[in-house]
This record gives sequence, structure tokens and C-alpha cells, in this order.
Amino acid sequence: MNITNPKIERYVMKALPPRDKVLREMEQYARKHAFPIIGPMVGRFLSQLALITGAKRILELGSGYGYSAYWFAGGMKKGGKIICTDLSEENRARAIEFFKRGGFGPMLEYHVGDALEIAEQLKGPFDIILNDIDKIDYPRALETAIPRLRKGGIFVTDNVLWSGRIFHKKKTAESKAILEFNRRLFSSKKIFSSILPVRDGLAIAVKAD
Ligand SMILES: C[S@@+](CC[C@H](N)C(=O)[O-])C[C@H]1O[C@@H](n2cnc3c(N)ncnc32)[C@H](O)[C@@H]1O
Repeated sequence: MNITNPKIERYVMKALPPRDKVLREMEQYARKHAFPIIGPMVGRFLSQLALITGAKRILELGSGYGYSAYWFAGGMKKGGKIICTDLSEENRARAIEFFKRGGFGPMLEYHVGDALEIAEQLKGPFDIILNDIDKIDYPRALETAIPRLRKGGIFVTDNVLWSGRIFHKKKTAESKAILEFNRRLFSSKKIFSSILPVRDGLAIAVKAD
């Protein structure tokens, strides 16, 4: 199921300004290896969020080889830190290389292991937290992330419409987890949330006072 009308998607993708060499290579890598990245439409939005909030510390849960993190870095001032997490050592090595080549090397801190366990050990607060781990863990990710955000900080979650699979009659464990996550997103008094039907559905939650 297309979340966005394909005509509109094509128009916006074409209208986007060209990306730098490193981002283009990262996108090429995703195409070649069928690696799920947030893509340039959402990527620009992440840069904007970093700019709008003046983010100095960003945490990512599920960073892959650093594509989404690279967009965040582009919206942060030098001296900012982006803390990445992923299960894969190879993804870490690739991210370090891409960041170095893009001139963002000193901004990157990358931990390998379970994102939620790592997050529990990290000292907050963070200005922005991105959640893009295995969907089954989304409800737990919300509970882990919110206490680690500063007041007014932003919790971003990808794939909350799951290509429309959440509407299937027979729901997978992932679909059920996403639906539970979305329910908590709007029932929690600690955050003020919305779902943007962009790409695969992007949830934005602001930590309330
Ligand atoms: C969709 S990809 C992330 C893409 C990245 N955010 C981007 O757009 O460039 C999801 C990544 O999360 C990692 N992952 C999934 N579950 C995880 C967990 N519990 N802890 C850490 N990493 C996890 C996977 O290894 C994979 O690289």
C-alpha cells in the first residue's frame, strides 16, 4: 500500500536539491543491498528538526550505517554529538567511514549492541531521539526514550504505518506492536504527538512539561 500518492512522491523527490557525494553513495549502498533507510524526503526533515531545536545531543535507536544520523549531523552545529546504536559491527565501521568523509567524524559516537540496553546506560537528556529498531520493540522503545528526552525534546519514530500492513485482518507481531506503540503515543500525558503520513508514516512526539 502506498502511503503517499506516487505522483506526489515522484514530484517531491524530483524537487529535492541534489545531495552531497557521501549521501548519494549511502543511497546507492541502500539500493544495492536492499537496506531500509529513511530516504531523502524524511532525511531533510530530520535535518530541519535538528535546526529548529538547535539540537546539541541526538540519540538514535537503530542507526544502520549512519544515513539518518548523517542528515541529523547536517542540521547540527560543530560540537554537537550524535550517538548511534546498532546490533551490527559492520554498520558501525561503515558509518564511521561515511562520517569521516563527510567531515562529521568528531560528531559521531557509535555503540554496538541492543539499542534499548545501551540507552539505559547513557546519560541524558537528549534534544532528539530517533527510533528505528525492530518494530516488535517499539512499545518498549517509547518507554525507554521519553525519560531520556529534555522537556520540549522530540521523539521521532519511523514506519508507524508499516506500508499499510497494520490494517491487514491477520496481524503479524510487528503490526500489533506498531498499533500498540501508536496507541501509547496518543494516550501518554508525557508527550504531545502526531503521525505524518509521509513515506512509511513518521511519528513526532514532543515531550511535555
Ligand atoms: C531500518 S534500519 C535503520 C536505518 C537508519 N535509521 C537509517 O535510516 O539510515 C534498522 C537498524 O536497526 C538495527 N536494529 C534493529 N533492532 C535493534 C536493536 N534492538 N538494537 C540495536 N539495533 C537494532 C538493525 O541492525 C538495522 O541496522
